[in-house]
Amino acid sequence: MAGSATAGAQALAKGSEPAPSPPRSLEPVHSRVRLRVNGTDHDLEVDTRTSLLDALREHLHLTGTKKGCDHGQCGACTIMVDGQRINSCLTLAVMHEGDAITTIEGLGTPDKLHPMQAAFISHDGYQCGYCTPGQICSAVAVLEEIGQGIPSHVTADISAAPSLSADEIRERMSGNICRCGAYSNIIEAITEVAGRRA
Ligand code: FES
Ligand code: FES
Repeated sequence: MAGSATAGAQALAKGSEPAPSPPRSLEPVHSRVRLRVNGTDHDLEVDTRTSLLDALREHLHLTGTKKGCDHGQCGACTIMVDGQRINSCLTLAVMHEGDAITTIEGLGTPDKLHPMQAAFISHDGYQCGYCTPGQICSAVAVLEEIGQGIPSHVTADISAAPSLSADEIRERMSGNICRCGAYSNIIEAITEVAGRRA
């Protein structure tokens, strides 16, 4: 009797074992994607896990966009996609086929600075400069978000830009961290471009 009970328990235990998982491939999967960056199309083949940030920096060598945390916490990787600012570390490159991507390199050149770039320089809106490309892209997008901003590829009539209070600028820029603490100068730069001095 005891023997048949033991056999029953063993059969029950065996029957309750979870089914083995199907083998999972650890091989990376690659995919083609066409990224339109600063008005130029780039055909890439990337590991599907590649972030947009890494595609820009490692594949296209557009290193103006910075990697700070790689976790969506610092804003150093801010770029614009179809006019909206995003953290490029939090999105996959393959999700942006055909989107209009604007990086700091697409805003201005040393000879022809974007008004926001010029304002950051004139107000010393940086110290080490690591957060600055993200700050500037974010600031340009802030003006676009409120509906009267300066177009992204621009030279622009900054007198047409809207007024913003310093508090509103701080709130809208709160996703961009500056470890050097250049915040007051950053606010001054944005305030100037927004058409109103604090
Ligand atoms: S690197 Fe993307 S938010 Fe910090
Ligand atoms: S200027 Fe150094 S982190 Fe902002």
